[in-house]
Amino acid sequence: MPCRIASGGLALSVRNAHDRERQLLFMLCDTDLQRGEPNQPMRCSRLVSVALTMAAAMVLLAGARAADKPDGADIFKEKCSMCHGPDGKGMSALKTPDFTDPKWQASMTDDQIIDTIKNGKKDTPMPPFADKLSADEITAVKDYVRSLAPK
Ligand code: HEC
Repeated sequence: MPCRIASGGLALSVRNAHDRERQLLFMLCDTDLQRGEPNQPMRCSRLVSVALTMAAAMVLLAGARAADKPDGADIFKEKCSMCHGPDGKGMSALKTPDFTDPKWQASMTDDQIIDTIKNGKKDTPMPPFADKLSADEITAVKDYVRSLAPK
């Protein structure tokens, strides 16, 4: 019986792999069940601990995956919007381009955008970000700039 509940908890935690808190809650429930039934066979509690180990591994994996995926919109807001405008439409005083203009989008390749973010643009206020953002963050903010193209 506790085994069945434990594996139910595991299945639920698979479905909620991104929801760390709920997963931890299920892990705690499993532990309580185990303690509440002192006469259960050894094999069952070993199964529970395997389930707990797997759940813990999934928590770690979910955390690692979340950290791997930087949020381009957040980076833009924090590091770019003061010069490119909160909506990416540019600022005339700084002569920043309008990222929502399909003509501007068509004029740049992905590699050119990434190169500009990494190295900045010579003789303009556009600064280099190679030492401030990781390659993944630069890709994420490039994708965000692309997402501003009209649909
Ligand atoms: C200090 C102000 C400033 C900041 C901060 C800034 N930029 Fe710029 N950026 C500029 C200016 C000015 C230009 C226009 C350069 C020019 O005259 O061609 C520009 C141009 C660009 C271009 C077009 C490059 C080209 O070759 O036409 C891209 C793409 C770009 N910025 C992306 C970003 C991203 C992404 C960030 C944040 C990670 C960022 N910029 C942060 C000022 C800034």
